[in-house]
Amino acid sequence: MLLQRVYLQIYFQLSIISIMEKSIRVKAPATISNLNCGFDVIGLALNEPFDILELELTEKSGIEITGIKGCAGLSQDPDKNVVGAVLRAALDRAGSRNGFRVKIEKGIRPGSGIGSSGASAAAAAFAASHLLGDFFSPVEQVMLAMEGERLASGSAHADNVAPALFGGITLVRSYEPLDIVELHVPQELFCVVIHPECEIKTSVARGLLDREIPLATAVRQWGNLAGLVAGLYREDYELIGRSLVDFVAEPKRSVLIKGFDQLKKSALKCGALGVGISGSGPSVFALCKGGDCAETVLEGMSETMRSIGIVFDAYLSPVSGQGAHICQKIMPE
Ligand code: HSE
Repeated sequence: MLLQRVYLQIYFQLSIISIMEKSIRVKAPATISNLNCGFDVIGLALNEPFDILELELTEKSGIEITGIKGCAGLSQDPDKNVVGAVLRAALDRAGSRNGFRVKIEKGIRPGSGIGSSGASAAAAAFAASHLLGDFFSPVEQVMLAMEGERLASGSAHADNVAPALFGGITLVRSYEPLDIVELHVPQELFCVVIHPECEIKTSVARGLLDREIPLATAVRQWGNLAGLVAGLYREDYELIGRSLVDFVAEPKRSVLIKGFDQLKKSALKCGALGVGISGSGPSVFALCKGGDCAETVLEGMSETMRSIGIVFDAYLSPVSGQGAHICQKIMPE
């Protein structure tokens, strides 16, 4: 492993001309993290929305963000952008003297609760690893992407970046050492996401949480997390549904989301297995058994949003089996 790395470092520095692609476009999906009972440890990938990065390895050192489409508020300063943070970490950890030039297309709105920073960070980690000769292992790519989350929210959590990289449903069994477990995805599991048009900063939502929780609360929370994992493997949708309970974050954070209680009631009435805050909000997710049920839940939740007069986006998606991937290779002319 060590020898392979030494060889690769020499390879980058001496033979940049042999790099086949000029640049690549990499797509990474939105994600729902926490799933109520798994704060900071569980998340799943959606089919849409998604972010796309176009990344080029340059002979010149340094990182240049040449454009950001789809979001006016993000900084092009690599020191203030999650993509810049991840790319810098990638170059440092690979010991490369090259640089990167990157264009960002944001399909996921920042502060939405569906892993906007996580998708950009995952795409950056995946793309950088590829252009550096598949330098980083999957778990090392998660570590790189976590640097983006650290910049975005002050906390290097992995529950969005892991599913954004690998697709499916992932569990962070341990942060130190980092241990990511890909979980079974039941065939008929569908997700509905309602994204109200407002922004909640993850750092603010994290600031609302108690630093310590009573033992009795922890017991209830980890019982549900274990129940959720068992439900996924047994494809027991009832068990999944009754495990989707949050005694830790939802009681503190739901006050930030106008109409949360009504949304929850309407989704459950329409047959959702469970409902909760997606990540740190304001998006609200519902898990459903089957696409037809998900359509009904989507309609019910949308009607509730219209009745309380809140502008929103809505998504319906199975759990996506595809995480960050190359959607286009751009060859030198
Ligand atoms: N687990 C993180 C949180 C996700 O809830 O703060 C943030 O997207």
